[in-house]
Amino acid sequence: MEKRKIGVGFLGLGTVGSGVLEILQMNREQVTRRAGAEIEVRKILVRDPHKKRAVNVNNDLYTSDADEVLDHPEIDVVVEVMGGVDEAKKYVKKALQNKKYVITANKDLMATSGAELMLLAGEYERNIYYEASVGGGIPLIRPLKHSLSGNRISRIIGIINGTTNYILSKMSLENMDFETALAEAQEKGFAEQDPSNDLEGKDAGYKLCILAGLAFNSRVNYEDLYVDGINGIDKRDIAYARELGFTLKLLAIGEEIDGALAPRVHPALVPSTHPLAGVLFENNALYVTGNAVGEVMFFGPGAGALPTGSSIVADLLDVAHEMRCQEEGSVMELHFQDKTIISMDKLHSAFFLRLQAKDQPGVFASLATTFGNENVSLDMIIQKSSTEGQAEIVLVTHEVEEKNFNRAVDKIRDFSYVRRINSIFRVIKT
Ligand SMILES: NC(=O)c1ccc[n+]([C@@H]2O[C@H](COP(=O)([O-])OP(=O)(O)OC[C@H]3O[C@@H](n4cnc5c(N)ncnc54)[C@H](OP(=O)(O)O)[C@@H]3O)[C@@H](O)[C@H]2O)c1
Repeated sequence: MEKRKIGVGFLGLGTVGSGVLEILQMNREQVTRRAGAEIEVRKILVRDPHKKRAVNVNNDLYTSDADEVLDHPEIDVVVEVMGGVDEAKKYVKKALQNKKYVITANKDLMATSGAELMLLAGEYERNIYYEASVGGGIPLIRPLKHSLSGNRISRIIGIINGTTNYILSKMSLENMDFETALAEAQEKGFAEQDPSNDLEGKDAGYKLCILAGLAFNSRVNYEDLYVDGINGIDKRDIAYARELGFTLKLLAIGEEIDGALAPRVHPALVPSTHPLAGVLFENNALYVTGNAVGEVMFFGPGAGALPTGSSIVADLLDVAHEMRCQEEGSVMELHFQDKTIISMDKLHSAFFLRLQAKDQPGVFASLATTFGNENVSLDMIIQKSSTEGQAEIVLVTHEVEEKNFNRAVDKIRDFSYVRRINSIFRVIKT
């Protein structure tokens, strides 16, 4: 009997695409056995068909005409690893309309147009797989969709941007300043030449939209997020935080409180004993709290050719399974509900604050009274240094409602003895 074949077309063959092909070549026998079919690459869209590639491919497979992939009668699955939004979206739509399964590594596309594409996939009885779009090689989408689906998930906390985690790890472990750590990340290929999307928290925000959607069974739009990045972080804050037993991380947090959602990205302190504090350099992690499983953490490489390729090959095996079982219309994202978004000032958090004040008697008492009047109680307050009549004060509050903390800070800012409020970070204590 002739062996079954699954025809695959690629949109793009850069870092990730090459990783996928390398895995398909390296693990051919195992992949064929698990898929119950030969995976056969039938066409590859690139910008420049003559460019030298990281993998060996028959030159006839290359094309610079997307329709040769999208209209190919013997391509069952289209793997979109070209990036960008507009063209990628146009091609993915056409692939679905031509009744092809789609696998994508494109977080920007899924965060901005995922709902629309899923609707189209359902209409054409196909499916979109996107395990590689968040966390590179770490399985995150599948666990949220399947393994943890018996749980009510109350919170997810992710370190899902390798660039910022690399910078903060270097600043913390080697006392580097921000600019040096960024330059090193760029030199080692962990940060792009224009790193603004990473530093401003946008990349983590896009990924959070995808993860929070699955965790809370709800559409989460980027515009609903509170997003704050790590630009201008001072290494002194990191050192003081460490002295107090905390580590600074850029966190992507999704939380469901009384049926409403609080999705946000911002730098925050976590206890140095927390599993997220040990997620270093370019690694990523997702910490999930479910009402049955308790707390679980997924950890690993958040990018790279082979790790990301491994997620795409897993998606290919899922497509092979779906084709074999002839499941139809299994797009679970179509059943998402719309949930209310909670505004930041209604959330509860502990805070770390560093300020410069005149070194004079009564400052601690005045700060404690001002916070107390707004129902903010202090966990610790320390004078870190005193030079030329100026004191540097660091304090950490107990958990409080954000609006109360902000009100107290507004008052403190106006006190004549306060020179400057240097920094404020949220503290995640558990
Ligand atoms: N790199 C990672 O570690 C990683 C991890 C997770 C997710 N992702 C996502 O995976 C996707 C691909 O990333 P990558 O790092 O592999 O990108 P890349 O190295 O820049 O490769 C992009 C590929 O797409 C082709 N391409 C781009 N635009 C095209 C167009 N308009 N027409 C035809 N071909 C086009 C390029 O062709 P040429 O080679 O001819 O220029 C290249 O082969 C992105 O969505 C990215 O966010 C990447």
